[in-house]
Amino acid sequence: MSLVEKLNWRYATKKFDHSKKLSAEQLNDLLAAVRLSPSSIGLQSYKVIVVEDPTVREQLRVAAHGQSQITDSSQLIIFASETNLDEAYVKNFIDLVAEKRQTARENLAGYEQMLTGKVNHLSEDQRLVWSNKQAYIALGVLLTAAAEMGIDACPMEGFNATHFDEILGLKEKGLATAVIAAVGFRAEGDNYGKLVKVRKPEEELFIHI
Ligand SMILES: Cc1cc2nc3c(=O)[nH]c(=O)nc-3n(C[C@H](O)[C@H](O)[C@H](O)COP(=O)(O)O)c2cc1C
Repeated sequence: MSLVEKLNWRYATKKFDHSKKLSAEQLNDLLAAVRLSPSSIGLQSYKVIVVEDPTVREQLRVAAHGQSQITDSSQLIIFASETNLDEAYVKNFIDLVAEKRQTARENLAGYEQMLTGKVNHLSEDQRLVWSNKQAYIALGVLLTAAAEMGIDACPMEGFNATHFDEILGLKEKGLATAVIAAVGFRAEGDNYGKLVKVRKPEEELFIHI
């Protein structure tokens, strides 16, 4: 199957087969793809939380309108934005760049100044919105990678983010839930998988200039 055929195969899975789990290798590969997601300036101002604990997932399901994907999927992936995006955060990132690219810290001083200026320019709310955008890009990478690997997924924003943060203890960790995805394998009786895809016609969606 080509990538486009695989994207046509995927759908927002409503019913997962609870008995089917991702292998450790599949989960590793999926997370490896998510880790490679691009982000603005490369800051990756979010964390990706993999929830398997059944008790926690039962609580999360209540906070997500009872949606069965939360408990029946193989894993629940939470994309949580960093709420402490500040100069210290940028400094840590620059430290990592220096280490990975084997370059002296002082060579990156101008770059650090530029990034700090960008972050300082934003209000607290704007920083969170910005981080959420980056988290959604990672979600997109996860969905595409899952389709490529023949893994089912359901992106979800039908949940109470405040309750999620409380259940997962995210506030204390300087995080706030942005968006989530359930991953696993479709149940046979999930008729949503048989529905024809609804997408705008090309001439309506694309503008060529
Ligand atoms: C950000 C986002 C949030 C979504 N939230 C939910 C959700 O909470 N529950 C759900 O069943 N589907 C959810 N969906 C699935 C969409 O309804 C679905 O992707 C869309 O109707 C297109 O259908 P398809 O993905 O099956 O092709 C969400 C999708 C996205 C991208």
